[in-house]
Amino acid sequence: MSIRKIITYPHPVLREKAKQITVFDETLQTLVRDMADTMWAAPGVGLAANQIGVALQVVVVDNSTEDDQRHYITLVNPVISDGEGSIIDEEGCLSVIECTANVKRFRKIHVTAQDVEGQPLEFDAEDRYARIIQHEVDHLLGTLFIDRLSSLKRALYKKKLKKILQEQE
Ligand code: NI
Repeated sequence: MSIRKIITYPHPVLREKAKQITVFDETLQTLVRDMADTMWAAPGVGLAANQIGVALQVVVVDNSTEDDQRHYITLVNPVISDGEGSIIDEEGCLSVIECTANVKRFRKIHVTAQDVEGQPLEFDAEDRYARIIQHEVDHLLGTLFIDRLSSLKRALYKKKLKKILQEQE
């Protein structure tokens, strides 16, 4: 088990378009396990590889239930092929410190991906689960949830962050 450092905005790796994964080996399995450990330690409900500085198309999403704690799904090369309905709810991000905001997302999505062994996955996701997947797939495209806020809200956050970072120096 290894907990990796979570990279925070405005680090440029968060803006990189993650590369497709073609090799499903032990290195990938270790990366995924570390991502899950890092996500739970944070704690968070989802993590994309570029958040730990690895610009590859893989995310982990917590899908624990009350009877099945610490369960997660790995999505390699995920694609959201269809979305319907829209819902606004609060979001935050482990890479965007001291910020939560309402974000509009599809309520229901269709997802195709591969698992950690390279087997194809295809499923529908709804509500909170769909929201987390959309947020994580955004990361792989170099998009952060703050990009989906109004320019005013984003400007206010940037100002706030500048102050926080100055105080940390
Ligand atoms: Ni995030």
